[in-house]
Amino acid sequence: MSPIPRHLLSDNCSVNNKGQLSIAGCDISELAKEFGTPLFVYDEDHIRERCREAVRAFGAHATFASKAFLCKAMAKLAHEEGMGIDVSTGGELHICLSAGVPADKLTFHGNNKSLAELQQGIVAGVGKIVVDSFDELDRLELLHSQNIGQVQNILLRVTPGIKAETHKYVSTGQDDSKFGFTVSTGDAKLAVEKAQASEAVNLIGIHAHIGSQVFAVDSFAKAVKVLADFSEPFDLPELIVGGGIGVAYVEGEETPTISQWAKTIKDAASEHGVKSTIGIEPGRAIVASSALTLYTVGTVKKLPGIRNYVAVDGGMSENSRPVLYGSGYEAFNPQDVLNDRNDVARVVGKHCETGDVIIENAKVPEGLAVGDLLATPVTGAYGFSMSSNYNCVPRPAVVFVKDGNARLVKRREVYDDLLITDLG
Ligand code: LLP
Repeated sequence: MSPIPRHLLSDNCSVNNKGQLSIAGCDISELAKEFGTPLFVYDEDHIRERCREAVRAFGAHATFASKAFLCKAMAKLAHEEGMGIDVSTGGELHICLSAGVPADKLTFHGNNKSLAELQQGIVAGVGKIVVDSFDELDRLELLHSQNIGQVQNILLRVTPGIKAETHKYVSTGQDDSKFGFTVSTGDAKLAVEKAQASEAVNLIGIHAHIGSQVFAVDSFAKAVKVLADFSEPFDLPELIVGGGIGVAYVEGEETPTISQWAKTIKDAASEHGVKSTIGIEPGRAIVASSALTLYTVGTVKKLPGIRNYVAVDGGMSENSRPVLYGSGYEAFNPQDVLNDRNDVARVVGKHCETGDVIIENAKVPEGLAVGDLLATPVTGAYGFSMSSNYNCVPRPAVVFVKDGNARLVKRREVYDDLLITDLG
């Protein structure tokens, strides 16, 4: 069985003369030695290049969905590259503002924003709020009646009735969804009328997001058609078609590039006569394949006739995607990149349950032993951002590597971090 496929590694990976992985000029063994494991290693220029690709296609209407991965360094990077940032909670908003991102570059999402969150966003001066429900419109009216902030620019999130092919937990375009105003029931039209009649808000556009990890670009073309038909009579300046383009996680998967995705959206928009400015909100496509997680093997258990287990020093607390969605990953030994992976093992974590699996049936190098490094590529999206302290395991550190330098952007949590909110 073959070595790790090149396309699952970030742009600036190479193999040095010892057969070891080097990312943006940083040797993997040195990174493990300096920062410890588990460790998220992000290839900074890879992220920058994906941001540029999105901005080349949609200019300032390319927005990074920060739920995929957020820390101050990431917020600054996306802003420096000319992207807006989508935040979906007061917490994400707080981090972006703390990073110095101007509030007017932020788009505030979420299906159940509280009054306090809306106030936080309006007072900060967020550029746009994407309103998700009639209750939210009422809350905006209430804040306006209390003279909080200016008349707020808003978009309405609509549910176009498109069922994208993806895991049901991340499919959001179908009518049976908690998100947005349904087009087919007439709620979306009613919401437009209500927003246009309101003195609290200025309706500037329509928004939809059909789902995440969607491989078929024609699903986006279909959504554009529904959105074009729906929004045509209102003649609004903006149409945001969300994020959602899939990325390859395992051998054999191929995905469209951001540019190909953009072309599909633009072609569909011109075919259906859309005059509004189009925007996108990719999260995964910007960061997923920019990072890998570096682990150390701690236990190897062989069960003849059953299977082999390889336990690493992390698990479902920093990668919950396999447990939540049955997502697949690959693994390889980054100190021996070119060797075949001729063994099969279940890669598991250190948490106290059987479901704590990172890879069900991983191809691994023969003779993988305690103390070896093991890397899982394509962990840059929805890994760190969905991490937890389950079993009181401190979260890993995050480094950005670029031009031979490694910059610690999130330090590893220490045990005392676990006690910060504990009042005894
Ligand atoms: N815009 C909106 C309104 C969204 O809800 C999302 C993702 C995005 C943009 C970005 O989607 P992306 O380009 O990253 O697919 N935890 C799941 C993914 C949840 C996505 C939630 N919304 C996972 O790990 O697969």
